Amino acid sequence: MKFIDFSKTHKQPFEAFMLGTIKEDSGTQLEEAMRYSLKAGGKRLRPLILFAVAKAFGQKVESIYAFGAALEMIHTYSLIHDDLPAMDDDDLRRGIPTSHIQFSEATAILAGDALLTKAFELVTEGEASDEVKVKLVRLLAEDSGHAGMVGGQQADMNGEHKQLTVEELESIHARKTGRLIHFAFYAGGLLSGVQTETLIDLKEMALALGIAYQIKDDILDVEGDEKELGKRTGADAKLGKSTYPGLLGISEAHRWFKDKLDLALTLNQQIAERETTYDQELLASFVESFQFAE
Ligand code: IPE
Ligand code: IPE
Ligand code: MG
Ligand code: MG
Ligand code: MG
Repeated sequence: MKFIDFSKTHKQPFEAFMLGTIKEDSGTQLEEAMRYSLKAGGKRLRPLILFAVAKAFGQKVESIYAFGAALEMIHTYSLIHDDLPAMDDDDLRRGIPTSHIQFSEATAILAGDALLTKAFELVTEGEASDEVKVKLVRLLAEDSGHAGMVGGQQADMNGEHKQLTVEELESIHARKTGRLIHFAFYAGGLLSGVQTETLIDLKEMALALGIAYQIKDDILDVEGDEKELGKRTGADAKLGKSTYPGLLGISEAHRWFKDKLDLALTLNQQIAERETTYDQELLASFVESFQFAE
């Protein structure tokens, strides 16, 4: 099965499930703000990866929507906070005004906090053994927290107006973007009960794609279209962010991006050689969909 067809089948039912976990406004504006950012047109990449990995190993996807919703909530909270005046200070996200512009700074902070907390509630509600759920709670905390995404965000801030080495930049990208993508791959593997070697390959594949994804995001910040992206371009240069195009130039950034995709495809092949029932095409077509449009 191709990733694009798989995504079409699951995107809408998943979104309906996710929104259904947060009741309409209780009168304090908090739930309204949580739903506002969740509802805005995100690509849902991370949950769709999680579902695709599980599907490729023969799992039923509908019963694990809760784990995908948890991940998408953490990602959405990270974007709400990323856009705050104290961080990247952006006014447009997912094609609409950012949370602090639409509501207030305080409500944006709290909506982020509440999405983060809700995520862990949802992990306990998904369909899996208690043993697997405990592993998922720990994994999500590690990938999201100080050694993962949040730590990457701090390093990203510390890297403003500095000339970093490629290794330093890769370490920032691996944490701020790579680690949530890591959760998607690794959780898909854990839920499918795959062998340790395969979990290791999934982890490597996730890190390659996570870095590739942030390189692409950095390139689009230079070359992309605001309307299409639903967010401001030129934001990185304005803030003196450390990025691949900034450090290496656009064409070298494209080359690094492509190398990461090739690595991901090699790892996918390696998994298919070990796991005979693995649907290799699903993840291979996903990697292909990462390419820049011609
Ligand atoms: C944006 O993520 C922030 C990055 C980590 C690059 P996405 O590009 O997945 O944003 P949405 O979820 O589609 O809005
Ligand atoms: C954001 O990176 C990464 C996280 C939110 C964890 P960026 O700051 O580059 O994301 P955009 O470009 O604002 O979406
Ligand atoms: Mg940022
Ligand atoms: Mg930003
Ligand atoms: Mg960006």
